[in-house]
Amino acid sequence: MHFYLDPGGSLTGRIRVPGDKSMSHRAIMLGSIAEGRTTVDGFLEGEDALATLSAFREMGVEITDPQSGRLTIEGVGLRGLKPPARVMDVGNSGTSIRLMAGLLAGQPFDSILTGDQSLLRRPMARVITPLSQMGALISSHEGCPPLEIQGGRALGGIHYDMPVASAQVKSSVLLAGLFAEGRTSVTEPAPTRDHTERMLTGFGYAVDREQGVISLEGGGSLKGTDIDIPADISSAAFFLVGASIAPGSDLILEHVGINPTRDGVITILRAMGADIEVVNERQVGGEPVADLRVRHAPLKGIEIPFEAVPLAIDELPAVLIAAACAEGVTVLRGAEELRVKESDRIASMAEGLSQLGIENTMQPDGIEVVGGDLSGGVITTHRDHRIAMSFSMAALRASDRIKVSDCAHVATSFPGFADLALQTGLRLEVAEE
Ligand code: S3P
Repeated sequence: MHFYLDPGGSLTGRIRVPGDKSMSHRAIMLGSIAEGRTTVDGFLEGEDALATLSAFREMGVEITDPQSGRLTIEGVGLRGLKPPARVMDVGNSGTSIRLMAGLLAGQPFDSILTGDQSLLRRPMARVITPLSQMGALISSHEGCPPLEIQGGRALGGIHYDMPVASAQVKSSVLLAGLFAEGRTSVTEPAPTRDHTERMLTGFGYAVDREQGVISLEGGGSLKGTDIDIPADISSAAFFLVGASIAPGSDLILEHVGINPTRDGVITILRAMGADIEVVNERQVGGEPVADLRVRHAPLKGIEIPFEAVPLAIDELPAVLIAAACAEGVTVLRGAEELRVKESDRIASMAEGLSQLGIENTMQPDGIEVVGGDLSGGVITTHRDHRIAMSFSMAALRASDRIKVSDCAHVATSFPGFADLALQTGLRLEVAEE
């Protein structure tokens, strides 16, 4: 599937993008090991979260089919999962495999997790190392999936000082900690998304967060609950950028999760001059939520602050499109993690920006982008959903048609992107072939 985009246009109206991916995964995982029923609203019916859902069904958990984002989970309790009959394939989803590795390390049964070509290249040592220290036995293919997780291991709590700022690693260790003897704690080199900690608390499980140390005691229990998942700021980000760069834009994004560990994209775009208003702020199920109004504004290049990088890690490809449309140079450093996402996002963005005539210089841990005039061109997405959606927005300022090839993976995180984008004014056409 390819996207063809005619140049120009503006983004207007009022939309709600689909539910938060990180929270959708966690809702399935925690709801499954809770006692009693959990209801979920706002669930993301994208391929990644659906892969997690299928895996837990495979382990005997009754989960209804999501209907307009609503589903129920009949939790089986901490010790109630059943051995899966087959290898669990989680497709493109790094969050599924890394979080589930922690959860499965503490089960009495063996399990195997695998995924698609992209996932088979992604580093898993970052979870295998701490989980092994807890007593898990996990074999991999030279540090990459498939992961074979041996069951029946007695896990013990550890303190883990994380070398990379990764919410997936933190969550994997904490989930293993639920099944471990004693206390499990982690410290992170920089704050990362804290949905696991918040959601565990929502399920009535005590999580301590003091002076940068996150810890919990193993062997407690989770109580089924009601979860209301807000719209994903990572999906909203494409529209924040699109409306910022396109003259005449005035767009409202409703009910967006603005957790302070996720709002780096707002901070960065505002520093570039973007006009983003956060209105109607409220708390929904332990997470801050707001409507975002974004209007076109002239942008200028900036040095992206280091501390904003982990808080905007998935939104940086979109931010680089803003950088291409800004006056002056934007410098992104300290973002080596982008090299091991669904694609090498530094290389994918550098390649695409060059295709559109935007001068840029790659660094091992980032990129410098010189704002300028965008031409048309053909973009290779490297089958990475966020690369596809970022370059779709670039068309708003391009001088000619853009073809974004290989866009099927957009469905991993943002089903309905093309329709919603069209509705707001993006001149997008989908070609199935
Ligand atoms: C996620 C954490 C981040 C992010 C990913 C989702 C999560 O990954 O990029 O899309 O839900 O915990 P890292 O932990 O590798 O930074």
